[in-house]
Amino acid sequence: MATRQNIESVLIEKRVFSPPPTFAARARLKQSEREALQQRAASDYEGFWADLARQHLAWLKPFTQTLDQANAPNYRWFADGELNVSANCLDRHLAERADKPAIVFEGEPGDTRSLSYRELLAEVSRLANALRSLGLQAGDRVVIYMPLVPEAIVAMHACARIGAVHSVVFGGFSAISLKDRIEDAGARLLITADGGWRGGQIVELKSAADKALSLGCPTIEHSVVLRRTGQEIPMQPGRDLWWHELVPSQSPVCKPTPVGAEHPLFLLYTSGSTGSPKGIQHASAGYLLGAKLTSEWVFDLRDDDVFWCTADVGWVTGHSYVAYGPLAAGATLVMYEGAPMFPDGGRFWQTCQAHGVTIFYTAPTAIRALMKLGDAIPQAYDLSKIRLLGTVGEPINPEAWVWYHRVIGREQCPIVDTWWQTETGAIMISPLPGITATKPGSCTQPLPGINVDIVDDNGVAVTAPDAGGYLVIKKPWPSMLRTIWGDNDRYLSTYWEKFQGRYYVAGDSAHRDADGYYWIMGRIDDVLNVAGHRLGTMEIESALVAHPKVAEAAVVGQQHEIKGESVFAYVVLNGARPAGADATALSDELRRWVAEQLGAIAKPDTIRFADNLPKTRSGKIMRRLLRSIARNEPITQDLSTLENPAIIEQLRGEAAIESNPRRSR
Ligand code: WT7
Repeated sequence: MATRQNIESVLIEKRVFSPPPTFAARARLKQSEREALQQRAASDYEGFWADLARQHLAWLKPFTQTLDQANAPNYRWFADGELNVSANCLDRHLAERADKPAIVFEGEPGDTRSLSYRELLAEVSRLANALRSLGLQAGDRVVIYMPLVPEAIVAMHACARIGAVHSVVFGGFSAISLKDRIEDAGARLLITADGGWRGGQIVELKSAADKALSLGCPTIEHSVVLRRTGQEIPMQPGRDLWWHELVPSQSPVCKPTPVGAEHPLFLLYTSGSTGSPKGIQHASAGYLLGAKLTSEWVFDLRDDDVFWCTADVGWVTGHSYVAYGPLAAGATLVMYEGAPMFPDGGRFWQTCQAHGVTIFYTAPTAIRALMKLGDAIPQAYDLSKIRLLGTVGEPINPEAWVWYHRVIGREQCPIVDTWWQTETGAIMISPLPGITATKPGSCTQPLPGINVDIVDDNGVAVTAPDAGGYLVIKKPWPSMLRTIWGDNDRYLSTYWEKFQGRYYVAGDSAHRDADGYYWIMGRIDDVLNVAGHRLGTMEIESALVAHPKVAEAAVVGQQHEIKGESVFAYVVLNGARPAGADATALSDELRRWVAEQLGAIAKPDTIRFADNLPKTRSGKIMRRLLRSIARNEPITQDLSTLENPAIIEQLRGEAAIESNPRRSR
């Protein structure tokens, strides 16, 4: 459990920022409406959600039952209703905004493209027809491994249109990670690209995809390959199909397949506390309702807004606030393919200026990295159209919050610090920008209809202000995950067992201040948050021990100025502990190895070699001790059980040398 020490930094900034009066006056959601929503949710929870589901979604067959608790905690929402998610995001806008830009795209090399709602629908329909021509049917799984280009959204919606279940795998993940996800999902089809642009380089997606398929993936029948970067790539006849040969000749009209509200819309793999990532399964109607409602409530989306969420569609943020929520709300979204700092630190701001971005949503890690470059860069661009800022993915330190507010927001924009998870599908705790006074570092209060609380180890609500505990959600909500693909027992044990099925356990610790504001303190499980991305320590450990030279490994998080956390690995080798240049060479080799096994984001920043790892009497690795050492914190743990107390010196890196030269520079 995190201690008060962890949150001290967030208590430094004591100012409270009220919504600017001009913003509040025009906001979509006013205080009186929020109160009415809250009262309705309190007095008739199911009626509250049923009303919203009827108002916000276009149903092909109306539902009669709102919440089905028969198999709790496998809850079902609106289960006898039918709809199509793609039709809800595209077709329904044709009457009012057919020619409005849906996607304004900018590639990293500077190419731009705009797709209206009408054009996006035609593209989605063509690909959907192509998928049907390949024999794909409702319920079939399709893995999408693409750069952040409009076709990634087209692919997601084409799946939704025919009821196929997509699983997007982030383009930064390795061939091996891709293979594991394809096999776990049992996908019939892979949609990929020759490559994508990042930092001036080509990310070789097709070659990684080929490697993944060569390692296994017996269920894959075809891969559809988009030409993006244009380099020569091998195509396997019969299996690989070029997008530009398959799609343009298809009819631009494709009748959407009606699916049940509970039909799975997508799987998205995320790290947990065991070695294998879990396929978080989301349903169609409840998910879309959450994504759409929060897009409107939290981002205050209006018809003249230009919304830019910088997330890749490989993460849940890119699902809910790029591919689905803003389109369901009829917004114009900006999509940028490449690295935030390419060709220089002004790229984000130049993109905001060029496309007239009005709402900007990014992660604290990006804000910190941009802040480090100084005020002059953003101040060289016209950011005056920005009216709302958002952040997500990890607690934001007050210094970064205040910089974001002052320099990017010109002290005129509310900041919504949005807490949620892959599992929750949509934002759960966040300011409402026209209503909530914000405090830097706090995600403030739950949205209407979301029943958040903090409980102690026995599940008893913690009522004293500022006392920490487990963050839980006390009632099911429509956009919640439905299960873990292929492993419902893991769903039950991960999220529900701790409090006997009474509450959803988020895996975060938090505290609530005297004003009822929530402050997230961090993960309580063995999950790291590196640059806003979730990484399981066990996954990285398994990757390390898969290396022939490694006998044992323990991975912990270390504070990192920009990334929030970085990966710190303690490694025990099969042979002798290396020193000097040998240690440096081996640690570089292991870093490359982890990148190959999992993806570059999982690379340890530091590797420290030791003769063994500290363990309890029952043989459990003393992770808290390793964490204290990595963070240079005083050691408070009982060390009496250690067989070899000299190990502490090695772990501290005093006897050993610092094995990663990059850190000491
Ligand atoms: C974990 C979920 C949800 C989209 C991105 C991450 C942390 C998320 C915040 C926030 C403090 C946050 C939590 C959470 N987190 N948003 N505003 N303040 N912490 O999705 O990969 O599923 O990770 O990210 O620890 O449990 P994810």
